[in-house]
Amino acid sequence: MNDLLAAPYGMGLPLAPGKGSGEGVTQRVALRGDLLDFTAEPAWGEIASDAVRYRADHWLLIENGRIVGAQPEAPDARWSREDHRGRLILPGFIDTHVHMPQLEVIASYGTELLDWLNTYTYPAEMRYADAAHAHAGAQAFVAALLAHGTTAAMVFPTVHKVSVDALFAAAQRRGMRLITGKVLQDRHSPDGLRDDVAQAERDCLELIERWHGTDRLAYAVTVRFAPTSTPAQLAMAGALCATDASLYLQTHVAENRAEVAWVRELFPRARSYLDVYADAGLLHARSVLAHGVWLDAADRAALAGAGAQIAHSPSSNLFLGSGLFDWDAAARAGAAVSLATDVGGGTSLSMLRTMADAYKVQAMAGQRLTAWTALHAATRGAARALCLDAEIGTLEAGASADVCVWDRAADPVAQRRMAVARSLHEQAFAWLTMADDRNLVATFVAGVAQHRRADPATPLLPT
Ligand code: GUN
Ligand code: ZN
Repeated sequence: MNDLLAAPYGMGLPLAPGKGSGEGVTQRVALRGDLLDFTAEPAWGEIASDAVRYRADHWLLIENGRIVGAQPEAPDARWSREDHRGRLILPGFIDTHVHMPQLEVIASYGTELLDWLNTYTYPAEMRYADAAHAHAGAQAFVAALLAHGTTAAMVFPTVHKVSVDALFAAAQRRGMRLITGKVLQDRHSPDGLRDDVAQAERDCLELIERWHGTDRLAYAVTVRFAPTSTPAQLAMAGALCATDASLYLQTHVAENRAEVAWVRELFPRARSYLDVYADAGLLHARSVLAHGVWLDAADRAALAGAGAQIAHSPSSNLFLGSGLFDWDAAARAGAAVSLATDVGGGTSLSMLRTMADAYKVQAMAGQRLTAWTALHAATRGAARALCLDAEIGTLEAGASADVCVWDRAADPVAQRRMAVARSLHEQAFAWLTMADDRNLVATFVAGVAQHRRADPATPLLPT
C-alpha cells in the first residue's frame, strides 16, 4: 500500500490528483477490453435495450484516478497500458447492504432470522468491541469486497464505535467509496451489544464529525431494525437525519414473517412496519432499507414518494427462508431497488451470485429478470439511488475509475457456453449466472489496482 491509495475525493467535489502523485505529475492508465455500462435504466423485461452501452475492444482512459474517455485506438506511450482484450470491463459493483462482522458466521446452519441473530450473529458481533479484532476484521472485509469486484458498499459494522472507526479507516486506506455508521440498538439485544440513547447520540455525532465527507466516506445513521430500538432511540435517529440531508439512513424492514408480527406487537399504532420508520423521520431520499419482502402497496408507494430504496438481498432471503421479494411490484410503484449480498444472511460476497439468485427469486413468481436490470441495479441504479451517479456505477468520463476486469469464462463448461451465445444479452446473462470471483482479473479503485488475481498462467498480453 502506498500514498496513492489515499482517496482523491471530497464528498461531491471534483477529483484532484491523489496524495503523493506529486505536483503537476499526471498519472495515466489505459485499460483495453470490452466496455459495458449503462446510460439509462433498462426497461423491465427488455432484452434489446438502448440503455446498454457496449463498446467492444476499446481503451478506457484514466487520468489521476478519474475516467477521462474511451477510444478504439491505443493511446500513446505517455499512458501505462494494460491489454485485456477479449475481457469485460465494467464499473465496480455496489453492494448496498452487507454486514462486516458477519463474515465469521456466513453459512450457519438451521435457523430463520430471529434465531439466527441470537444463535450466531450477536455472539460474532460482540467480539467487535475489541479494537484489535475490529481492525483485523475490517481489513479482511474490505479486501474480500475488492476480491469479489465490489468497489463501493453500504455496510453494517456493530454497535461498538471502534468497529466503525476500523471500517472507515480500512476503506480510506483503499480509497473506496464506503458508507457506514454505528449500529443503534438499545433493547432486545444481549449484554455487550446494547447502547443507550444518550451515549449512542454522542457516538454518532463524534463519528459524523470525524468521517462524514472525509475522502470518499459517508455516514449512515444505522438503525439495526425496529425491534431493537426503543421509540426514543428511533426519534433520536430521525432527529439526526433531520440535522443534515447528506446523511444516509440504513436499516432492515419486513424481512421475515415472525419479525413482522413482532413489530406489530411492539408498535401497535403503526399502520405497517415501514410506517414505524416513516413516523420517526427515517424515510427519505438517502434511506436504504434491506429486504422489504413483506411490504404492501401502500408501503411501496411510500418508498417511491420518499425516494428511498430497497436493498434486495436474494441470497439471504433464500438462505434464511425469509420469502420472495416482488421486484416487479416495486418497480411498477416507482420504488428504487438495488442489490445486496447481506452477508452473513447471504452466503456470498459475490454480486454476480447475488444477481443469479435474484433471477431465480423472480422466476419463482413467473417473472423474468433480465441481465440488464440486474447489472444496472448493481451499478448505475444503486449509484443513482445513493445520489452518487456522477461518481460511481458508470464508465462515463468524469467518474471515479472504480472498474473491474472480468474473464467471460473461468472454466471449460463456461467457455463452451459462451462460445454458442448468439446475442450480447445471452452472453451477459450466461456470464452473470455462471461467474463469480474466479472470473475477476483485477479491481481498480480510483485508477489504482487494489486487487489482482494471482494467475501466472494468464499474464497480460504485450501491448
Ligand atoms: N435484521 C436485524 N438484524 C439483521 C441482520 O444482521 N441480518 C439480517 N439479514 N436481518 C437483520
Ligand atoms: Zn442485513
